[in-house]
Amino acid sequence: MNIMFFLFSLASTLFRTPISTLSRSCLSSQHYFRLFSMAAKNPHHHLEENGGATTVMAADILNRHNSSSCKKRKLFDIDVRSEFSHHDPAVARINNGSFGSCPSSVIEAQQRYQLRFLEQPDDFYFNHLKPSILRSREAIKTLINADHVDEISIVDNATTAAAIVLQQVKWSFFESKFNPGDTAVMLHYAYGAVKKSVEAYVTRAGGQVIEVKMPFPVASNHEIITAFRNALEVGKSNNRKVRLAIIDHITSMPSVVIPVKELVKMCREEGVDRIFVDAAHAIGSIRVDVKEIGADFYTSNLHKWLFCPPSIAFLHCRTPELSNLHHPVVSHEYGNGLAIESSWIGTRDYSAQLVVPEALEFVNRFEGGIDGIMKWNHQKVIEMADMLAKSWGTNLGTPPDMCSSMAMVGLPACLEIMSDSDGLKLRSHLREFFKVEVPIYYRQPKVGEVNPVTGYARISHQIYNIVDDYYRLRDAINNLVNSGFTCKVFHD
Ligand SMILES: Cc1ncc(COP(=O)(O)O)c(C=O)c1O
Repeated sequence: MNIMFFLFSLASTLFRTPISTLSRSCLSSQHYFRLFSMAAKNPHHHLEENGGATTVMAADILNRHNSSSCKKRKLFDIDVRSEFSHHDPAVARINNGSFGSCPSSVIEAQQRYQLRFLEQPDDFYFNHLKPSILRSREAIKTLINADHVDEISIVDNATTAAAIVLQQVKWSFFESKFNPGDTAVMLHYAYGAVKKSVEAYVTRAGGQVIEVKMPFPVASNHEIITAFRNALEVGKSNNRKVRLAIIDHITSMPSVVIPVKELVKMCREEGVDRIFVDAAHAIGSIRVDVKEIGADFYTSNLHKWLFCPPSIAFLHCRTPELSNLHHPVVSHEYGNGLAIESSWIGTRDYSAQLVVPEALEFVNRFEGGIDGIMKWNHQKVIEMADMLAKSWGTNLGTPPDMCSSMAMVGLPACLEIMSDSDGLKLRSHLREFFKVEVPIYYRQPKVGEVNPVTGYARISHQIYNIVDDYYRLRDAINNLVNSGFTCKVFHD
């Protein structure tokens, strides 16, 4: 047992002082951040998010620490603050969603791979690279409940995965398997880069694109399912065929968890040829079971929510032997199947693709592993979103069960956010003057809406976040409101 921890717990109980107070002055951060993993397991044990724990929790931890189970002792192996000590301490970073985060233990593993390559590149290339990539693919296969490792290819990012799928659709037009005017259906809130890819590969090849107009704020899955059904009807009108559906698992802006299983089922019933799920944010923030979802292609980044360094994503293909997918960068392995093609696309740094096992080792140091982390982040992001909405007198953009580890919080209408550009400038303003990093979504008001909420903050919660990060955002916005600030200042 950690003797220091025991002493602080005892002192905390005797002096009725939270461990956080004691520990902040005397104890290294390493000790008290280990407490986090406990609270991930049991939401009733509340962590003071500035790094401390209540005495109630400490007592419980002592009990657990006394347990003879090795597995339980592992709970305390984590040191969140030092794992993320490379983060700029001045910034309240509540935007894990955009670029993710990588703990130092995984960065060190990555650097070891980089050095091994530089030490003896030929040996690394001939003897280690492919087996190491295979090891990562095996780990991903298990994580997402795929049937076979051949179904998993590792690529740089979701953008690359989308290009692979859409390129294949383009060839189907070129090879006259699809007819000019056949359609692709995608959400209006599909990611901007993916929309550009659709333009480059599908529209240019003769396909027509139908966008699903999704409501926001959104109250239920039903609203999305209805909107999607209507779009499929439009896609099939005039004897056209819907050749492709692109469905986000979690839309980026605004962030909404989409009922992807239901939409895939609907696409199957309606005879859609190919279904591609863009789940860039999914792995590590919501449960992923590719068999249950049943899409033809499913991609997710591992550098967003699974603690891998940039950049790595997987592309799952249900029937790799039939799909004729190819990597857009053609190299020696062309024709050997996408997974093998992707494992050599020329000389480059492959290290980010090799550390999936180390990233999983990291998450498994938390009780409940990645499921425990997901649960914790979801719970905390909702708690923080509610706190912010209450302070600003607004609402969440979705019900909690349509949030992942991200949530949309309405900003006060008096800020007068009137365009995407206002949202971007307000974000820069928050970064520059308040050291808060958070994306802002602009929502166009409906005609006749009175005092509409036109701006939403997309907040993320990852294990390194503390409650002060969110207080900083709360206070920054309240400060702007109280000083009479509006986004009109950006127009001058
Ligand atoms: C829904 C969605 N798709 C695709 C992407 C692209 O991810 P990447 O830039 O890692 O390729 C993102 C990035 O945030 C996203 O949110």
